[in-house]
Amino acid sequence: MEESPIEQVRLTIPTEDDNTLPVLTIRTWVLGIATCIILAFMMQILAFRQNFIIISPICVQLLVLPLGNLMAKVLPTEPVKIPLTKWKFSMNPGPFNMKEHALIYTLTSAGNAYPAALEIITQLKIFYHRKINYLITFLMVQTTQLLGFGFAGMFMKFLVDSPYMWFPGVVSQYSLFRALHEKETRTKGSITRFQFFLIAAASSFAYYIVPNYLFPSISALSFICWIWRDSITAQIIGSGRNGLGIGSFALDWTVISGFLGGPLEMPVFTLVNVMVGFILIVYIITPITYWTNSYNAKRFPIFSTGVYDQYGHQYNVSRIINEKKFEFDQTAYDNYSKIYLSSYNIYYYGVNFAVLMATLSHVALFHGRSIWSQFRQAYRKQTGDIHTKLMKKNYAPIPQWWFYVILISMICLAIYSCEEYKGEVQLPYWGLLLACLLAFIFILPVSVIAATSNRYPNFNMALGIIGGYLFHGRPLADMTFKLYGSLGLSQAALFINDFKLCHYMKIPPRSMFLVQIVGTLISTTFQFFMQWYILSSVKNICDVDKLPKGSQWTCPFEHQRYMDNVIWGLAGPSRVFFPSGQYSKLFIFFFIGALAPVLTWLLARKYPNKQWIKLINIPIIFGATASMPPARSVNYLSWFAVGFLFNYFVYRRYKGWWAKYNYVLSNALDAGCAFMAVLIAGTIQLPADVYGMDWWGLDAGDHCPLASCPTAPGVVVDGCPTFT
Ligand SMILES: *[C@@H]1O[C@H](CO)[C@@H](O)[C@H](O)[C@H]1NC(C)=O
Repeated sequence: MEESPIEQVRLTIPTEDDNTLPVLTIRTWVLGIATCIILAFMMQILAFRQNFIIISPICVQLLVLPLGNLMAKVLPTEPVKIPLTKWKFSMNPGPFNMKEHALIYTLTSAGNAYPAALEIITQLKIFYHRKINYLITFLMVQTTQLLGFGFAGMFMKFLVDSPYMWFPGVVSQYSLFRALHEKETRTKGSITRFQFFLIAAASSFAYYIVPNYLFPSISALSFICWIWRDSITAQIIGSGRNGLGIGSFALDWTVISGFLGGPLEMPVFTLVNVMVGFILIVYIITPITYWTNSYNAKRFPIFSTGVYDQYGHQYNVSRIINEKKFEFDQTAYDNYSKIYLSSYNIYYYGVNFAVLMATLSHVALFHGRSIWSQFRQAYRKQTGDIHTKLMKKNYAPIPQWWFYVILISMICLAIYSCEEYKGEVQLPYWGLLLACLLAFIFILPVSVIAATSNRYPNFNMALGIIGGYLFHGRPLADMTFKLYGSLGLSQAALFINDFKLCHYMKIPPRSMFLVQIVGTLISTTFQFFMQWYILSSVKNICDVDKLPKGSQWTCPFEHQRYMDNVIWGLAGPSRVFFPSGQYSKLFIFFFIGALAPVLTWLLARKYPNKQWIKLINIPIIFGATASMPPARSVNYLSWFAVGFLFNYFVYRRYKGWWAKYNYVLSNALDAGCAFMAVLIAGTIQLPADVYGMDWWGLDAGDHCPLASCPTAPGVVVDGCPTFT
């Protein structure tokens, strides 16, 4: 039998399989569904927070292992008969094995995914203040989540069975499982990873009550603002949340790791590339725009996620909506004002354009040749390696018609929800089909890129723009178009990724399929109702001005999506950007993004000996500020400082410690914060509406009130000095 042609796979994935191991055991279902529901619950509570927390499924994966072993130790081994039937099952079919663990992980990850289509509910209910039909939204949430699974089936044979499509990310997932299931012996004077995890998580849990409840201001300490209390310029420079953030820092793990991903898990080259991008956009381009007053920048805050009118006020979106039809109103718009963006926000859109093109062009230039040759090999040699052969020999494949059933029924349901509620959903059926077609077209290229270079290009904004041009002035049409397109693509990619794990692990494909579907259904249904409950029970949720002091329910993500929707869906790209908007020049970023990697590629070829040139990564540099907002300067600065400390100094000095505990520490800190946040939200904030003692430190902002003031003469804004 043939070995895998890829070296990393040969080194990590064993070539034998014990097909007698039980897979869909009672342990799998109990632990998997329990973690799926717990994570879905936590996801919803954490999703609206000012300081985002991400719970990595890896940390759950770590916690599940001792539970599984415990169940294998204590539960009775005799089969249990189900009364009145011939069926029986065992509570304890032998030791807890890696395949069960992987399936539990799949269920857990399903719980940990935010069903993006829930966006429809928050946007309509909270921001546009409109009634929504819950049944239709429920259908749309379910169909967007499952549609991609149907698509994935068409590409499974090529992407999963081919040894050349090897998915580096999955191989590293596998190696983690392997490490967990190999016995770790405790050496004298040191503690195991698991003990370390518990100690670190408990400390983080205990400490996190301080930033989360008692002293929220600790999450952005901006000293410059405290010294120059009356200077707008000083506060712009010093504010960690609404300014450049010089000298600003945080004593809160969620600020450090929240939006940007755990810094301990970032290699130094990523940290540096992100910082270069951050400095370029935030410290150079944005201030230049502001202080030269381009695009009337001084009438607006320098950093803000909002959209503004010509008087320097927050844009009153309801003035340009035809309430009855929920559409853009051209005459009202002409009588009111154009849409203006803050200095930073202009480039936020710019870099988002650039990053898409830069990813495509970077991958084509730097990995194009290997991707192409692996693609050709995969296409030519359909036989497969030992892993494919073992899978074929030992397990029944998934019949193709399962996928067709899912795909066709989901498309029909989606068309039904669009057509039946035409007035509300706004998306015509051909728009839906077009979104599906776009997703379908991009699945293969995106997955081939992921399978060979571990990178997932993101087309969300591109889809939003296309939708904006197609459905002029109908915000919900644009939103649903984007959702069907992007989720069709990303869910398919996720599905394929999980099946590759199942391929390496030798899990029967049908079991994996079942677990995927069950996990997704449970998670989306649960999160749907949970979100419904939160939105109707937290008073003034997402309304930063009306929320009680110290409240975390400020919804930074939702604000960002709302602004995107106002710009692309309601006003439309043609009015704000190309061709007739005042920011139409920004489309040049598409070309900058496409061409910049050519430059680094040429440099790398010209000077093959200079290693640092190869480390310049244009997509990461442009992508650096793509998550700001919701991230702010203080997030970037603290993230970089902590990441550099651990992955540069600790890595060099204490390599042994680093190798053993670094990733564990990162996950433990996340887990501790998440549990504390959920505990407080679940016990006192949600049911009782109690938000800490009232004092200076309860403010979740950074005490730089002037940082978001305009400095142009004649602009009157509450709480700001006016210049003449
Ligand atoms: C926005 O416009 C609406 C409709 O014209 C008006 O009722 C509302 O008071 C305005 N809101 C603000 C904050 O100006």
